[in-house]
Amino acid sequence: MYRILPIFLIIASLGFVMFSNAEEGDSFSPYVDSEGNISRPTDFREKWAYLGSWVHPEDLKSGMHNVYAEPGVAQKYKANGGKFPDGAVLIKEVLSEASQDMTTGKGVLYSKDTVLWFVMVKDEKGRFKDNPKWGDGWGWAQFLAENPSVDVAVDYKKNCLGCHIPAKGTDWIYTYGYPVLNSK
Ligand code: HEC
Repeated sequence: MYRILPIFLIIASLGFVMFSNAEEGDSFSPYVDSEGNISRPTDFREKWAYLGSWVHPEDLKSGMHNVYAEPGVAQKYKANGGKFPDGAVLIKEVLSEASQDMTTGKGVLYSKDTVLWFVMVKDEKGRFKDNPKWGDGWGWAQFLAENPSVDVAVDYKKNCLGCHIPAKGTDWIYTYGYPVLNSK
């Protein structure tokens, strides 16, 4: 009995550790599976918080970039002194734009058809070290409108990071373009 009890305790605690790790992987984000594959959020226009837009007036084919964050992310970012919470998901929707003269002004630009989406998932713990779509504190993904369920990003260092270097000091995110993150 005295010999069996410690063995039983070891097995029971091992089982608990394995179970709780699996639980953590599953609950990290509804958009990330256990291997770190990222899926595209589909209800962000209706349900997420709008952060801001980048408008490229000379690129009507893909010049409207609208950025959204999961509900609660902006509040937590501000409460944490400008830090994105673990699991935070951001999406940038890239659309074509149209221009027209309106009662408000000339050459008004507005959003038309979706071209692609960029998705980032905050990962404080470096969960997917062997997955080339994860690193520098984020998971990085890209989906094209013609095949919206397939992440076409292969390696974030090649596909994404170089262009985000100017925003390195703000955790790779161009935060100065998002009024809700900067307002007091
Ligand atoms: C050609 C340069 C370039 C590439 C390549 C690029 N980005 Fe960006 N990204 C930017 C710039 C600049 C912005 C903000 C201004 C804009 O959209 O015009 C931005 C904004 C974003 C945003 C909105 C949040 C933020 O950082 O402000 C997300 C999300 C994003 N990019 C994800 C990605 C992912 C994921 C990849 C790779 C799959 C990627 N980007 C590749 C330059 C780039």
